[in-house]
Amino acid sequence: MASDPFRAPRGTRDLLPEESWLQRHIERVAERLTAAYAYREVRPPLLEETRLFSRSLGEQSDVVEKEMFTIPPRAEGSASHTLRPEGTAGVVRAYVQGGYAKRAPFQKWFYFGPMFRYERPQKGRERQFDQFGVEALGSDNPLLDAEVIDLACRFFEALGMTEGLEVRVNSMGDPEDRAAWRSILISHFEGQVAERCEECRRRYTRNVFRLLDCKNPRCVELSASAPPLLDSMSAPSRLHHEQVLGALQALGRKVQVDTSLVRGLDYYTRTVFEVHYPSLGARSALCGGGRYDGLVEEVGGPATPAIGFAVGITPTLIALEELGLPPEADVADLKTPGVDLYVVAVGEEERAQALQLASRLRASFDDGSVTIDLDLRGRSVKAQFKAADKARARAVLILGPEERAAGQAVLREMGSGTEERVDLDGSALEEAVAAALAP
Ligand code: HAM
Repeated sequence: MASDPFRAPRGTRDLLPEESWLQRHIERVAERLTAAYAYREVRPPLLEETRLFSRSLGEQSDVVEKEMFTIPPRAEGSASHTLRPEGTAGVVRAYVQGGYAKRAPFQKWFYFGPMFRYERPQKGRERQFDQFGVEALGSDNPLLDAEVIDLACRFFEALGMTEGLEVRVNSMGDPEDRAAWRSILISHFEGQVAERCEECRRRYTRNVFRLLDCKNPRCVELSASAPPLLDSMSAPSRLHHEQVLGALQALGRKVQVDTSLVRGLDYYTRTVFEVHYPSLGARSALCGGGRYDGLVEEVGGPATPAIGFAVGITPTLIALEELGLPPEADVADLKTPGVDLYVVAVGEEERAQALQLASRLRASFDDGSVTIDLDLRGRSVKAQFKAADKARARAVLILGPEERAAGQAVLREMGSGTEERVDLDGSALEEAVAAALAP
């Protein structure tokens, strides 16, 4: 044995078959919901040019400053690449590259997949983690903001999380609003910056908004008196914000307006929101998102408003576990998948034919609705029946020497115990199996 065994890299983990069913369940819920809301899937690459992220997320964001997994240029004159730390930048790049702004500017897209951030691994935070995200491009209508927030809330509801979540909404205004607010905040914090944590002191000159979402208890206290952007926001931005809140109210969505919510990525404009599960403490955001009306242009396309969000699957899994979710009935088929038909070979001579028949039946039920298994380890008939029982097989197809000689097999329904001999020629076998497995 190797003295230094191989391990998954720090901050990553194996999703083994005993655990992957839960992820599959979440993906299934996301697929169902996005279909209901008329979103289509997009799958950009996991790698993008590094400059795409520095340009769109902001040179001063934590992600770009400290958390990117970057591969330096492989040859002189070639570009540096980065494993995507988030999905929005790549989706916007794909939208621009695909020429959508001209031919079909309004698009509602979703994605599911791994993101990479060099963070300190801790509860709910990993270096490789999955996100479920949506991006709706091509409209600045506040009703779209409301639909996107509604979809995020519904996602958690569909997972059974009907209580204990907080939906926090704020507006970051337009770039002009933010420029004015930046000066207001710089003067406001000037007198207290020395009292704040090291991170805040560093951020004061680089990205003063981030002082507002510092989690250090003393800094939280000091931020309480900061003038909110809402007080100095331009009339159109304020109207947009009010219309979003009004549309959410009309949808029956209870949200909290949280003026300290600023988000960690630079591309946001106007609406920003997060869904929190407060019992997770400082890192309680399960989902974050907002508008990024300037990003398509920043990435090289024509000015195109857009909004989206991403759910972190890791913290969502922790919240689900704490809540004792999902209900067993919702996931029984994924958690302990059974076998519908088990093919048993009685003697050595029948083993190859058992595989042939299994393959033939698998081809005829290839919509995934029927699971067929057989022994591939040369085990005894007794062990094969035991395996069929353990897999809760609903029917067993038995191939013995006598049946083989007659060109037949025996089909036994496990529930009723009834048996019939079936001809292997023609389609009698497929029909008998379909009848035996009919719900
Ligand atoms: P974000 O807030 O950086 O936004 O990430 C969204 C969610 O991903 C977070 O709320 C958190 O649940 C999860 N997350 C972030 N980092 C980690 C990590 N290291 N380990 C586990 N989970 C993590 C974005 O990524 C934006 N692209 C969202 C967006 C889409 N905005 C507009 N469209």
